[in-house]
Amino acid sequence: MINTPRGTYDILPEEAKKWQLLENTLRKWCKRYQIQEIRTPIFEYTDLFQRGVGETTDIVQKEMFTFSIKNKENSDKDDIKSFTLRPEGTASTVRAFINNKLYGQPQPTKLFYMGPMFRYERPQAGRNRQFSQFGIEVFGSDHPSIDAEVISFANHIFKDLGIKNVRLEINSVGCPTCRQQHKEIMMNKLAEVREELCTDCDNRFERNPLRILDCKNEACKQLTQDAPLLSDHLCSDCDEHFKSVQKYLLALEIPFHINPRLVRGLDYYTQTAFEFMEDSIGAMSTICGGGRYNGLVEQLGGQDTPGIGFAIGLERLLLALDNNKTTIEDDYGIDVYAIALGEEAHVAVLKMIDQLREHGLDCEKDFLNRSMKAQMKAANRLKAKHTIIVGEAELADNKAIIRNMETSEQQAISFDGVVNYLLGGSK
Ligand code: HAM
Repeated sequence: MINTPRGTYDILPEEAKKWQLLENTLRKWCKRYQIQEIRTPIFEYTDLFQRGVGETTDIVQKEMFTFSIKNKENSDKDDIKSFTLRPEGTASTVRAFINNKLYGQPQPTKLFYMGPMFRYERPQAGRNRQFSQFGIEVFGSDHPSIDAEVISFANHIFKDLGIKNVRLEINSVGCPTCRQQHKEIMMNKLAEVREELCTDCDNRFERNPLRILDCKNEACKQLTQDAPLLSDHLCSDCDEHFKSVQKYLLALEIPFHINPRLVRGLDYYTQTAFEFMEDSIGAMSTICGGGRYNGLVEQLGGQDTPGIGFAIGLERLLLALDNNKTTIEDDYGIDVYAIALGEEAHVAVLKMIDQLREHGLDCEKDFLNRSMKAQMKAANRLKAKHTIIVGEAELADNKAIIRNMETSEQQAISFDGVVNYLLGGSK
């Protein structure tokens, strides 16, 4: 027997229903906020993520699914290209924004995406190697009200889904100017403990010391207890921006907690960074992470354009839904189940449900020649609103029995009239 690769899983029909309902809710909110869908390739040139997500990140250093393919159309040359399964959606969306000149449209551009991402991580509850993200990216405005709009969008989704104990943490990770200053102060301060830091932090020391503040290693946490926080060294523009974002969040009555150590694991962030946490789902409690990335469009070859967005991990969101005992409204009962007893009856009902389906009704019938009792059980399992029953007696009379499953009322209707009756009756 062949199993799914480690860190991947099948979504079976019952579970797929939950996904569809969740996706419908997310699409509904996108429409409300006038955010439009973008679909980008599942794999991109490796370069995109190296430059977009950042060389010093865990994603690029350890977690990418990368493969090299020789260009078969060009077999005599040494033309080998490196591709990577997308580990996240921001870099691809920025690439698409530039490639397709979306900056030429009225701004801001508000995009969303939903789909599989790939990271080679150690699997555990809420952490998979293939996982799904719903993300949004907004380009073309650096006004602090759009930061609050993006955060409030996520907040509305969690509220609508009945996820009660969600916590919002925010921080500002500044701009290259204040970051450079902070980096120097940080390196001076941490120089004496550098040797005691974990290998990851030792690597980050020169390239991106800010990430040391976010290390989950207990020893590093202790050693950096008094490390200088970027929030105390923000330049006046970044400080003002951060304060304005808070003002808008307060106006929207969205509770938040400022976490000065929140730096996020991707290199592109500037100014606002935020995460939504839901503790019931365990160690992998961050269900949503995002922030502003004002330099990324330019860094990937476009014009200087501000951007902000977030991504929600859908597996984690579904775990949170289960833990909050939230069931999304499921209106999956079918309209008609046709019960047939005997070969000729099967012909008659197949014709009827064929016509009913053409008129837009959801129908099912028995295909296993089961007993009346077993077919009725199937109708109940599928939450059928009506059943059509045709046996030998009905065939002889040219009439079908239509049963309203809610009221248990039954009527004999001539074969010719069944479709009309049900179209009127089940609307
Ligand atoms: P991220 O924090 O790397 O950000 O991922 C966002 C969310 O994806 C996480 O909070 C988590 O819910 C989910 N996630 C990440 N890795 C896994 C995994 N291995 N298994 C299951 N779920 C996972 C980004 O990806 C940024 N692109 C977000 C963003 C958009 N920032 C600005 N725009």
